[in-house]
Amino acid sequence: MADIKSPLAQKPDYLVCTCMGVMASEIRDAIGQGNTTFEELSEVLMVGTGCNSCVPEVCDILKDEGYGC
Ligand code: FES
Repeated sequence: MADIKSPLAQKPDYLVCTCMGVMASEIRDAIGQGNTTFEELSEVLMVGTGCNSCVPEVCDILKDEGYGC
């Protein structure tokens, strides 16, 4: 069976957190390594520690990966 990914996961890599220079792929990698809450992602990648404008996008990725936010 084909590996079906969500539309969000099929988007080309893009910058999510401009303050800290964090790409969507880095966030997905970190989630895959067990950082499954916003707080953990914020700790390992520093996302959401600047202007906070990336928080909704980080949450969308978390939800897309099957976790809450
Ligand atoms: S864009 Fe992520 S903290 Fe500003």
